Amino acid sequence: MTDTEATEIRKGLAGVVADTTAISKVNPETNSLLYRGYPVQELAAKCTFEEVAYLLWHGELPTAGELDAFVAEERANRRLRPEVKDAIDVLPLETHPMDVVRTAVSVLGGLDETLEADPTWIDPALTLARAKALWAQLPAIVAYTQRRRREEDLVEPRDDLAYSANFLHMTFGDVPELPVVEAFDVSMILYAEHSFNASTFTARVIASTLADVWSAVVGAIGALKGPLHGGANEAVMHTFDEIGEAQRAAAWLDEALGRKRKIMGFGHRVYKHGDSRVPTMKASLDKLVAYYDRPDVLALYDALEGEMNARKGIRPNLDYPSGPAYALMGFETELFTPLFVAARVTGWTAHVLEQHAANSLIRPLSAYDGPEQRAVPDRAGGAL
Ligand code: SDX
Repeated sequence: MTDTEATEIRKGLAGVVADTTAISKVNPETNSLLYRGYPVQELAAKCTFEEVAYLLWHGELPTAGELDAFVAEERANRRLRPEVKDAIDVLPLETHPMDVVRTAVSVLGGLDETLEADPTWIDPALTLARAKALWAQLPAIVAYTQRRRREEDLVEPRDDLAYSANFLHMTFGDVPELPVVEAFDVSMILYAEHSFNASTFTARVIASTLADVWSAVVGAIGALKGPLHGGANEAVMHTFDEIGEAQRAAAWLDEALGRKRKIMGFGHRVYKHGDSRVPTMKASLDKLVAYYDRPDVLALYDALEGEMNARKGIRPNLDYPSGPAYALMGFETELFTPLFVAARVTGWTAHVLEQHAANSLIRPLSAYDGPEQRAVPDRAGGAL
């Protein structure tokens, strides 16, 4: 079959099953999400993000011994590499944090001295080692990005803290109390993986050419930045800032919908009756609202959700509760999507490993609708 013989066109690949995956199952019929067979709600309630990262990469939850070794390796790789800090420091403070993170990952890839001399075969053990090293470095990259924008110094990691507590410590210079650490860890678990979403599929397309995991993650970060995908959690907070208070939600929404604006944090390509992750993240948001005594945030959240449901019957996705949650924790709005990167790097790299293990170059067809074949007229042509 050639490009011109393509049959049914599925714009945006909507509803197209491109491959199998054993990593996660997104089920809109039951409004559920499984990571390697485990409901994500149970993982969020019973596990840490470290355990979930291990699960995504290895297919099973770790034993106590496996977890100890896994955690020790992550803690040993947390310190921001000086070459990466130097690369970040040449960027203007105004550079969008997603562009800073994308640059930092590129630098890490450039520093990798283990890249295969023969690129036609990629060692899965090296890919996993790279994935874990990147996972360990991202908190320092993201935390430093926020601190330098505030003209604050880099905070060195604390090896006595678990992943989320250390991430918050490196960002804010101290360890918040348990409710904040718990909410952050839940958000990392919920953001970690979601089958063939746009950024993960981008990573798989890049991996399918036998490019390395660094290249795949840089591409995935680019895809995630868009407001129709990961950039929505940042955009939700811009919406909240525009609306200001709950009483203005209805009027704001009338105006926005009147201009055919997409309301950030609402809708989903796969879930059509609500995002399975929202109740868990909303429960964490509720706890943060109580902890910080910010009922105004909840009032605005509920008002906009209610008005959107009444007008369009469109439900929130994960970005809707996570945006205000990160704002209450003290993250700058433009740091929200980099937090998504820090979590989703586990899913992306698990998919790179899966793609490499049973690879087929991803290359769909297109249906040509340009001019019919025609001859180039005799012409003077440009000078060479
Ligand atoms: C993520 O795929 C994943 O799994 C992604 C993700 C993950 O974990 O990786 O879940 C993370 O990206 C969540 C989505 C974050 N994006 C946003 O919140 C941006 C706002 N949402 C929309 O742009 C939209 O809902 C999409 C892009 C998410 C999904 O859109 P679809 O499935 O392509 O549906 P559509 O855009 O064709 O909309 C269908 C109808 C349209 O109305 P009509 O033009 O047919 O009259 O619903 C309307 C849309 O206008 N609609 C919305 C809307 N979402 C859909 N109208 C207003 N605001 C919205 N948010």
